[in-house]
Amino acid sequence: MNGAAVIDMEGVWTCFGDKVVHRDITLSLHKGEILSLMGSSGCGKTLLMREMIGLQAPTRGRVELFGESLREASEAQRQQLRNRCGVLFQSGALFSALTVFDNIAFPLRELRFVDEDMIGQLVRLKLAMVGLRAEDGLLMPAELSGGMVRRAALARALIMEPELVFLDEPTSGLDPVLSEEFVNLLSELHQELGFTVVMVTHDLNTLSELGSRVALIADQQLAAWGDIAQVLESDHPFVRRFFHGQRASLIFKETA
Ligand SMILES: Nc1ncnc2c1ncn2[C@@H]1O[C@H](COP(=O)(O)OP(=O)(O)O)[C@@H](O)[C@H]1O
Ligand SMILES: [Mg+2]
Repeated sequence: MNGAAVIDMEGVWTCFGDKVVHRDITLSLHKGEILSLMGSSGCGKTLLMREMIGLQAPTRGRVELFGESLREASEAQRQQLRNRCGVLFQSGALFSALTVFDNIAFPLRELRFVDEDMIGQLVRLKLAMVGLRAEDGLLMPAELSGGMVRRAALARALIMEPELVFLDEPTSGLDPVLSEEFVNLLSELHQELGFTVVMVTHDLNTLSELGSRVALIADQQLAAWGDIAQVLESDHPFVRRFFHGQRASLIFKETA
């Protein structure tokens, strides 16, 4: 571990009335690391991401982003911290009424200090980076294949050259081939650009290929936390159940 934590959470509780979603979650992530959040649907993965980026305040506990306390920061300061992050929302939602080009340009135009020539250059660069052609920028989201939608959404998440990228289920709904293509692309860009990643994924192959750290949420708590080998060794019953089957295929892949 080198340098200060990019994300540092300590004793985070999230409650809605009587309902407890997160119970005492503590984790930290350093520059250049990849964290995969895992757990059953509804266990609070998206919510935990929203708390990391300051879109939602936890009921209790401390969250620091880039070394700044989100609770103590003003809304303007939180927005500045968010500007250093790129986000790919669940199912890679693009604005359906905007072209691919305008979708990718959107975060830059919101800032209002980049002129249109520069925006054009930056968008074309990002299209190429994610393996799309310049002409694809003219298409509407409905005209794209599933794999292209994710690439375009990734280009939009990277347009501001973020230090930290949040990807919420970026490969869900893609077939295994497209999913692997997306993971390879992400891996290349991660190596090239060195950003830190927090992603939600259910796919053990994805996270073993990315060499990521794993945080598995079960019974509102962190049931497992560490690198993939450490997590697979856990004897927590939920962890064993969660990886059952997937684990066999991974071991098979490693020895094949
Ligand atoms: N604003 C809210 N009010 C009440 N419950 C919420 C709110 N936001 C999220 N939740 C609940 O928190 C739980 C976790 O949601 P979420 O983070 O979306 O799960 P996941 O992404 O792991 O599928 C869900 O049960 C959801 O209903
Ligand atoms: Mg979710």
